[in-house]
Amino acid sequence: MVDALTPVLSAHWDSDRPWTLESYEATGGYSALTTAFALSQDDVISMVKDSGLRGRGGAGFPTGMKWGFIPQGPEKDGTVKPHYLVVNADESEPGTCKDIPLMMATPHTLVEGVILTCYAIRANHAFIYVRGEVLQVVRRLQRAVQEAYLAGHLGTDIHGSGFDLDVTVHAGAGAYICGEETALLDSLEGRRGQPRLRPPFPAVAGLYAAPTVINNVESIASVPCIVRNGADWFASMGTEKSKGMTLYSLSGHVARPGQLEAPLGITLRQLLDLAGGVREGHQLKFWTPGGSSTPILTDEHLDVPLDYEGVGAAGSMLGTKALQIFDDTTCVVRAVLRWTEFYKHESCGKCTPCREGTWWLVQTLSRLEQGRGEESDLEALLDQCDNILGRSFCALADGAVSPITSSIQYFRQEYVDHLENGGCPFDPARSTLFAPAEALA
Ligand SMILES: Cc1cc2nc3c(=O)[nH]c(=O)nc-3n(C[C@H](O)[C@H](O)[C@H](O)COP(=O)(O)O)c2cc1C
Ligand code: SF4
Repeated sequence: MVDALTPVLSAHWDSDRPWTLESYEATGGYSALTTAFALSQDDVISMVKDSGLRGRGGAGFPTGMKWGFIPQGPEKDGTVKPHYLVVNADESEPGTCKDIPLMMATPHTLVEGVILTCYAIRANHAFIYVRGEVLQVVRRLQRAVQEAYLAGHLGTDIHGSGFDLDVTVHAGAGAYICGEETALLDSLEGRRGQPRLRPPFPAVAGLYAAPTVINNVESIASVPCIVRNGADWFASMGTEKSKGMTLYSLSGHVARPGQLEAPLGITLRQLLDLAGGVREGHQLKFWTPGGSSTPILTDEHLDVPLDYEGVGAAGSMLGTKALQIFDDTTCVVRAVLRWTEFYKHESCGKCTPCREGTWWLVQTLSRLEQGRGEESDLEALLDQCDNILGRSFCALADGAVSPITSSIQYFRQEYVDHLENGGCPFDPARSTLFAPAEALA
């Protein structure tokens, strides 16, 4: 159990123009390159493995292990394929808002992490696939990459090491599915973004059918501090299997929303204390631990350690650590309907259970939310979820059912109340059950 904030990635976000090269270098930026270039590539991979860093994009896969999957040496036919690093900066999950602030505030942390990673995996070209709607971030990244080239941190023979690296910033067109790593690769190659069948895995045949590492922005941005301070320093934070510090994003009905950087294993109760609590006069009703794809939790779970194991044991997932806080004025049915509409809209259409299923989920949920239909519709809804979960091509569909099944688990009566009330009991015009009209103001 931990109780303190540990700003590392966010340590300089309040400095004067922290996004400039000058500001980054003044705080030790790019010094990790000297350390890494004095080591072999395999030693850098071992250091990241020893640190215990796990991917911050949602699944928590060990980063050093992923890098180790990249095959070394020539193919069976004697040819040597290039290796690629692709940074997943597509951040589009509802509630998730950590990579965009990180890239806005200190884009050079990501660029330095890209150089270290490419050195380790023997890649000479990296791509940063960034969500196209966030034009300010695209521009800031492009400028940071340009500054890094001009300073000799990118290009040929970086720092006299003999290592060459080019970085391309690529703006996506704003499809949530393009955050799924293989859909991202298709999109980057110029095709419609739809997930690929695996195997082959990207480590064997990824971008342009060459060995490719795909990592989240926060994962890559965590590499410079590991190289600078050592694996033991990083592993000294966090819990037994979830090491290091991370960015927790608090949003919604909280007094001071924002990014709180803390060791893995901190609890929501502690984070809420640091963020001024749930907004005044209200109680916590439900929350997501890692974005809208992760099953919701309630006030029973305030003391769950926010690491991969703790949240898993509580029946949810740590995901992207996007803690969306909903207080007692929120209609859970309406919130879940809004998320489901999002998944229906973003379903790429490749597989039937998700393409058709998310449409049916919206139909059934809308009926329930409007107080039409019968209690048996709840069973129909759960049956639809059962026919989608684990039967679809990618994890988008599994994420779509998470808020539905978990909300019925914790708030079944609220669904029934909609039916008995002939509409949403939180609607001021109909409110007889929960929220007085003034609480909704
Ligand atoms: C529908 C969907 C959307 C995703 N969106 C993102 C995203 O925006 N950013 C991200 O890093 N990972 C996203 N992921 C997870 C990636 O597929 C992949 O696991 C991740 O980029 C790996 O990086 P990591 O090992 O550093 O966590 C998404 C997955 C799915 C199924
Ligand atoms: S689950 Fe949905 S998003 Fe994923 S491949 Fe199937 S249709 Fe596309």
